[in-house]
Amino acid sequence: MYILGIETSCDETSAAVLDDGKVLSNIISSQLIHQKYGGVVPELASRAHQRLIGPVVKEALVVAGIKKQQLEGVAVTYGPGLMGALLVGLSFAKALAYGLKIPFVGINHMEAHMYSNFIDEPKPDYPFICLTVSGGHTQLIYVQKALHHQLLGETLDDAAGEAYDKVAKMLGLGFPGGPIIDKLAKDGNPNFIKFPRTFLEPDSYDFSFSGIKTSVLYWLKDHTPDYSYHISHISNQLLADICASFQASVVDVLVEKTLRAAKNMKVRNVTIAGGVSANSELRKRLQACADENGFRLFIPEFRYCTDNGAMIAQLGWMKIIAGQSSDFSLNAIPNLSI
Ligand code: KG4
Ligand code: ZN
Repeated sequence: MYILGIETSCDETSAAVLDDGKVLSNIISSQLIHQKYGGVVPELASRAHQRLIGPVVKEALVVAGIKKQQLEGVAVTYGPGLMGALLVGLSFAKALAYGLKIPFVGINHMEAHMYSNFIDEPKPDYPFICLTVSGGHTQLIYVQKALHHQLLGETLDDAAGEAYDKVAKMLGLGFPGGPIIDKLAKDGNPNFIKFPRTFLEPDSYDFSFSGIKTSVLYWLKDHTPDYSYHISHISNQLLADICASFQASVVDVLVEKTLRAAKNMKVRNVTIAGGVSANSELRKRLQACADENGFRLFIPEFRYCTDNGAMIAQLGWMKIIAGQSSDFSLNAIPNLSI
């Protein structure tokens, strides 16, 4: 069954074709225009999606080696995300499915991240815990069986990726900040500054990352001359030490809460997903934790960590074969919950 997946919730225009869950193509066009603004500008994102959606879908079909008439379903993100950006993908998907008279299914972006570990082998067994860490979300989810899950906890303020991006901005690094901090932290000392770890209540699965971000800001104001929300000069070593110390505090919390969820929910399989799951320190620390505590860890390939059409098509395929599809009246929901 050929399924087309379309993703336009934020700043990636992506389309993928899967054949019974096997990826035939996964085209991702990242909008570089936002880099000079240090964050995603919604209006620019919508306009770029409008320009790119046609060519990206066309390329996905060409690379997959099929014609649009061979498609048997269209899956598309309808939330959460930026309203204008979501509407571009959703309208395109509806028109295509309507014209081809094939099922159309709206996909929750965060749920698609959750199943991104099912794109490749080996696949996790149910039940499993999924830590979804992206620019907009940080969630711990208990996935009981296919298409059935329960949210255990989520961030009360900033998402983990958002904290990375905001700290990168304070340090005068580029956007998105996560990969840059990840790279710089490799040469830094994670114990150089002891930034706070916010664990909240002892049994809480919720997260809070705004305190860590603010601590970095205060540290910079106290320790770097004339700091005014942007570093003008700082040694490479100090920059690496700040990045490593900040990263250590974020990763400590993510690893400890994931382990707590795995133990309490008595699961043997744990997955991570979302843009921050590309983080090398998080991957390393969670793998060590899995080895020590006897659970299996599943991490998507890099290209399926950040936003991509393949994960949308994957979940779309799972839903369509389970008999689920959406009505053409489906609207975009920017704050759609899991
Ligand atoms: O899932 P995603 O592509 O988009 C959202 O749904 O938000 O995640 C993007 C986020 C950004 O905040 C980016 O800085 C972060 O993922 N990210 C990383 C890394 N690669 C991407 N954060 C830390 N380390 C990385 N290597
Ligand atoms: Zn995402």
